[in-house]
Amino acid sequence: MKKLFVTGGAGFIGSAFVRLVLAEIPGCEVVNFDALTYAGNLDNLEGVDEGRHRFVRGDICDREAVLAALEEGTEAVVNFAAESHVDRSIASADEFLRTNILGTQVLLDAARSRSVRRFVQISTDEVMGSLPDDDDAYFTEASPFEPNSPYSASKAAAEHLCRAAHQTHGLDTVITRCGNNYGPRQFPEKFLPLIISNAMRGEPLPLYGDGRYTRDWIYVEDHCRAILMVLQKGRSGAAYNIGARNERRNLEVAEAVLGKLGKPLSLIRHVKDRPGHDRRYAIDPAKVESELGWRPRETWESGLEKTVRWYAENGVWVERTRSGAYRDYYERQYGAEKSLESEV
Ligand SMILES: NC(=O)c1ccc[n+]([C@@H]2O[C@H](COP(=O)([O-])OP(=O)(O)OC[C@H]3O[C@@H](n4cnc5c(N)ncnc54)[C@H](O)[C@@H]3O)[C@@H](O)[C@H]2O)c1
Repeated sequence: MKKLFVTGGAGFIGSAFVRLVLAEIPGCEVVNFDALTYAGNLDNLEGVDEGRHRFVRGDICDREAVLAALEEGTEAVVNFAAESHVDRSIASADEFLRTNILGTQVLLDAARSRSVRRFVQISTDEVMGSLPDDDDAYFTEASPFEPNSPYSASKAAAEHLCRAAHQTHGLDTVITRCGNNYGPRQFPEKFLPLIISNAMRGEPLPLYGDGRYTRDWIYVEDHCRAILMVLQKGRSGAAYNIGARNERRNLEVAEAVLGKLGKPLSLIRHVKDRPGHDRRYAIDPAKVESELGWRPRETWESGLEKTVRWYAENGVWVERTRSGAYRDYYERQYGAEKSLESEV
């Protein structure tokens, strides 16, 4: 692989993927196209190999900007760019429909017109809805779509558009569906970084409802390795569920974090539930394991240990992200009057 076009590469998972590609694929160049919404953070890219990484600030809904940045000879588009926070989609769905649906179609069209060999869509297990509590049912690639939030509905729509581009135009598309990622550099509004940083400060840990909501957790680097394998070896037109066989109740996650930080369980606070809250996600990763030979490298214990340590050792990142100071970086570094395109 020589050249990749990664969207959303200043976000949590996208930046981990960019780091992985630059570290593990010698000679591969990455164009990182990201609008830098509130979730895009250039601090996430600190220290990446600048010679092989070109950052372009742009919106995936902006056809001209995408085409201007997407060079002929690009081997693959990997689309991480999205509005990704379920709670925000409940407050207002507009941006979710725009970025997650329209933006994906713009990228599919652009990939076709630039003869890009492969299009990888990063989707989510949430498109398949919710599983019953205390059951051994799992999401497989054949599970029906039953999205329950505007976020998951928009991601499901994006998957349909990828399928349509494959069926109608013969575009080589592959889709990955993953559960809850955890690891360094996740925006602190999300559950795990929120409870880690609250616990570190001795502040209450808010848990929705009874805290028995179950999520299937995967260390972000393991997810990125799976995406890389799907990109390199996945079957055209296929979807792959990616999970580390690591179901945990939110209460259990909060207790584990408090235990690691030596904080009291009394910091846990049950708060009013959110509407349409999916009870349980659990992924059957048999296909990606057997077809592509992927296995997670981290256990829950080792991944959580690394994650908690990273947040403890990167107080500046946490503080700049919580306070919003990270948003000044772009203007300070490049200036408002300069072009939106810059090397990072
Ligand atoms: N975080 C998870 O646990 C998880 C699980 C499964 C799937 N996913 C999917 O993985 C992808 C990445 O998730 P994340 O947690 O890193 O998200 P994130 O919110 O941390 O990052 C999203 C990135 O996309 C960028 N972006 C948003 N709108 C854009 C637009 N219109 N044009 C260009 N860039 C735009 C943001 O600036 C940000 O850098 C998303 O597609 C999400 O649906 C996430």
